[in-house]
Amino acid sequence: MSILVDERKKVFTLHTKNTTYQMKADSLGTLLHIYYGERTDDSDKSYIIRFSDRGFSGNPYEVGKENKMYSLDVLPQEYSCYGTGDYRISALKVQNEDGSCAAALRYKGYQVSGGKYSINGLPAVYADENEADTLEILLEDPDSKVEVHLLYGVLEENDIITRAVKIINQGKAGIVLQKAASMNLDWINGGYEWITFYGRHVMERNVQRSELDHGIHAIGSVRGTSSHHYNPFAIVCEKNADEEKGSCYGFSFLYSGEFLMEAEKDQVNQTRLVCGIHPDNFAWNLQPGEEFDTPEVMMTYSAEGLGVISRNLHKTIRKNICRGEWKERRRPVLINNWEATYFNFTGEQLVDIAKNASELGVELFVLDDGWFGKRDDDDSGLGDWFPNEKKLGCTLKELAENIVGCGMQFGLWFEPEGISEDSDLYREHPDWAVVIPGRKPALSRNQLVLDFSRKDVQDYIIGRMTAIFEETPITYVKWDFNRSICDKFSTALNAQSQGEFAHRYVLGLYRVLETLITKFPHILFEGCSGGGGRFDAGMLYYTPQIWCSDDTDAIERLTIQYGTSFGYPVSTMGAHVSAVPNHQTGRITPFSARSCVAMAGTFGYELNVTKLSEEEKEQVKKQICRFKEYYDLIQYGEYYRLLPPSDRQCTVWEMADQEGREALVSAVYHHVGTNEEPVIVKVQGLKAETYYQMHLNMDGMETMQDRDQERLVKCLPYGYKNGEAITGAALQQCGLVIPEPMEEYQAWQIHIVEV
Ligand code: GLA
Repeated sequence: MSILVDERKKVFTLHTKNTTYQMKADSLGTLLHIYYGERTDDSDKSYIIRFSDRGFSGNPYEVGKENKMYSLDVLPQEYSCYGTGDYRISALKVQNEDGSCAAALRYKGYQVSGGKYSINGLPAVYADENEADTLEILLEDPDSKVEVHLLYGVLEENDIITRAVKIINQGKAGIVLQKAASMNLDWINGGYEWITFYGRHVMERNVQRSELDHGIHAIGSVRGTSSHHYNPFAIVCEKNADEEKGSCYGFSFLYSGEFLMEAEKDQVNQTRLVCGIHPDNFAWNLQPGEEFDTPEVMMTYSAEGLGVISRNLHKTIRKNICRGEWKERRRPVLINNWEATYFNFTGEQLVDIAKNASELGVELFVLDDGWFGKRDDDDSGLGDWFPNEKKLGCTLKELAENIVGCGMQFGLWFEPEGISEDSDLYREHPDWAVVIPGRKPALSRNQLVLDFSRKDVQDYIIGRMTAIFEETPITYVKWDFNRSICDKFSTALNAQSQGEFAHRYVLGLYRVLETLITKFPHILFEGCSGGGGRFDAGMLYYTPQIWCSDDTDAIERLTIQYGTSFGYPVSTMGAHVSAVPNHQTGRITPFSARSCVAMAGTFGYELNVTKLSEEEKEQVKKQICRFKEYYDLIQYGEYYRLLPPSDRQCTVWEMADQEGREALVSAVYHHVGTNEEPVIVKVQGLKAETYYQMHLNMDGMETMQDRDQERLVKCLPYGYKNGEAITGAALQQCGLVIPEPMEEYQAWQIHIVEV
């Protein structure tokens, strides 16, 4: 059992393979946070808490006039409350019936059980009975009788602890939850930095590292979705932490809506982190007897740097969050027609693309936006999920069958949460759009949002999509959402309940997704929101992959995929080879570089294959073969970031198999200079005493000038030539030389195999 309870001392210790987490209910009933870090024993470590008289940090009434040393304002706590003497950022803010905002939680009891708890209607890490344990600690506000159940899921092997909270109003009066965070974590020291992931449309998840100095530091979203702008994932680390060393904590929020992650360094240099639903658009009414469930946060700790944090999360997302038939099944290599045709296509052209692609080894054809309603640009048609047979030249079913006839699977794009003013759906149900009556709504991409907080709307969408899935041979759906939500209001909620809208919207989205994936388990769902605008661990519970960004430029993708890799595995990152000049940047990159970068994701194509030269077609065939050959290594291997895109010359990453038998090192030169220093990386995850051979993927050699080919062969570093083997220890400690670039944006894939 990974959960140990000292009943007499009321000490709770959670152990994972390499970490320990401890808390203690003190004599007042406050649940104190004691420790989270490298694995240690389960002895009571509360001795590290120092009690001092801190001016202006008051004392709970119950401790008496003599004890000025006990203050909630400085004590490390498991779940902090607003209004009763802790002036730092707090996890819970309750408005009582009399209008006061106050709660003071006291320990009441606990329960330990085997297996991992789940959460009604919300995504949550899942595990086999023997893979996880659950601790539930019950706290209560004695005055209002509001109960707070703190849930801890311990996945010992994964080094993961999850947290979520259930709040039950056991009192006689209604309350309003003004803030109900999913977790609070207190460190009794400061000196931390945090790494957060900011961005924008077509440039998501840039890495920012900043000091958690005095003040409140926050990232979040009030956009209705988790957003391009900040990802609901952060790492708190020691200042000296890097990929391979130092103490780091990872926090990933399994939620696709508005979130807030705040960190505060307090008056005595302690650090507090609070994470949960963003309170700005949140006010949840809880009548006597009612319950509220917060979404879940998963936490992981590493004493050995950032890389371990990522790998722990990758494993857990792949095995304990992603679900369904596609979780571990090889995903098809796809071709999407968006950048090939945009809205401008006929059924015949689509079949032509599918046929050509099929001959090259592509397995799935995805028909993107524009196949339904009146939809020849993005001004109209959203909501009218009826095929435009005139444009397709046949029924959708016939088109799909034609494509299946080419030896391809068929997939379809939807934007179920969108509604255009110029649509039959809007004309019929104007009250289904998210607008504030009497106000002109803000448009974005000329569209509005469908009110997914309403059950009738959810059922309508389930019905429409079900009808299409039942009559068409579909095995893939791209679920897109192309705007942020404002003018938040639902005609189905009364004035007092409008503060529930944003969260109810997300619950509605999850219900629709859950219903559809359960009904149609054979369909692979890919999430999308203008690229990676809703790339979060919550979404991955329903859609095991997400289109990483609308930016398909291979060089820009190095930065986007690098940032994404901190919190999410390669198997979740939608990545395609697109045409050059690139449609977003105008940059021209070699075909081999584009495929190398797309292979650090789910891999597919997004270009008009009918326009490729014969030479390029041959390359596509080879790329697909190579991707299939490396599939397990790429999708299930251990991921290492060897050189970041901020390096002057080259971005390098590696996937190594669990046993260290082989590894794939990928390198892309984003800067080519003359007479440069060599790029050398320390390969990871190999066995020290084993000999390895290095195979350089010569893709693109065909297109090189003879002169360059000769030069390349001449200057290949030792070990690449004639298959000389090198020890794992050498590759790990001394390093691997990346061959020099022969052209701009040169990419190399180096397959390292045990001999
Ligand atoms: C979004 C997606 C794109 C494409 C378009 C279609 O921007 O991210 O991949 O599907 O919508 O309108």
